[in-house]
Amino acid sequence: MKNSRFIKALNLQENSIPPVWFMRQAGRYLPEYQEIRKNYSNFLDMCKQPKTCAELALQPIDRFDLDASILFSDILTIPDALNLGLAFHEGEGPKFSNPISSPTDIKKLIRFDVNAVDYVFKAVEETKKQLPKDLPLIGFCGSPWTLAAYSIEGGGSKDFNKTKSFMKEYPNELREFLEILSNACYEYLKQQVLSGVNALQIFDSWADLLSGKDLDDFSLQYTQILTNQLKADPITSNIPIILFEKAPKKKITELVFKDISCMSLHWQENIKTIAKDFKNKYAIQGNLNPHILLEPDELIWNETQKICTIMNKYPGFIFNLGHGITPDIKPDKVKVMIDAIRE
Ligand code: CP3
Repeated sequence: MKNSRFIKALNLQENSIPPVWFMRQAGRYLPEYQEIRKNYSNFLDMCKQPKTCAELALQPIDRFDLDASILFSDILTIPDALNLGLAFHEGEGPKFSNPISSPTDIKKLIRFDVNAVDYVFKAVEETKKQLPKDLPLIGFCGSPWTLAAYSIEGGGSKDFNKTKSFMKEYPNELREFLEILSNACYEYLKQQVLSGVNALQIFDSWADLLSGKDLDDFSLQYTQILTNQLKADPITSNIPIILFEKAPKKKITELVFKDISCMSLHWQENIKTIAKDFKNKYAIQGNLNPHILLEPDELIWNETQKICTIMNKYPGFIFNLGHGITPDIKPDKVKVMIDAIRE
């Protein structure tokens, strides 16, 4: 594992060829994924089958020979285990039948029991068994803030207005909920490490809902509580942590991230200027705009090489997309990007 380009990058070592993996690499843009997906009406039922999860995690590895694999699961398994009743209906995003609509709902929450998500840890074990020995597996969770936003909103939304009103009306109860989620994420990630993952990624996919002090108070502070716990625990203290902050409304270079090995940059971020600030502090992962993969091959090739040229001498560069790949992208286009990285 020490010779893995991905692990070397996380340890701020240079690689002559940058390692590559990408967000949502196992998913709907792959025909082999759709082939398995059609057997399940609820996506969550598929996540509860460890053998299927392993097969899905390996699909992009087999197709593109990537440098890291990511656990096949979802960030919303934790709110589901808190009895919020998660389902993914046909053609819609996630929906909770029992969302957090009042402070009483927070008071009444059941304790997070890591055994309720045992299927996730079985998926880690099964995936590790099937992956090549030297190929790292990334475990993950949502940031406490991002999980709270989905739990209060009751699913996805354009504006997350319910969450924003809840934050204004009940800031203290929201803080209690964020603390519950931070502890749950810690136990969840620890158990993923015990089951075999080699690195962790925290997805703060709704960081962009917050501005100014709210970003620190409601998101970063709780991610910090989570990473503090991981670093204080001998089981997880040596596992590198990657943080994805989706387009935060503050300059990313002005945010303070203790305990983080690598920053995963959203495609709107300017990787060139950020690299000057982050050099020898964090590894950088990113950040091709996934929409570029809908363009002609030549453009994909040029935009990919542009990023590789900028990051050529950066100690700890991992090529990735600046957000998840979308279902409308053709796998052949991904191949163009990977060839451009490795040329
Ligand atoms: O290769 C991989 O990354 C697979 C593992 C994975 C999934 N979700 C599988 C999935 C990971 C790492 C995630 C993370 C995730 N889930 C995030 C953070 C990353 C990001 O995109 O910002 C978020 C916000 C979610 C929540 C979620 N899960 C939504 C909003 C949706 C529906 C719409 C969408 O974006 O796909 C899901 C469903 C989901 N999770 C699918 C997959 C493959 C599609 C389900 C289907 O086939 O119907």
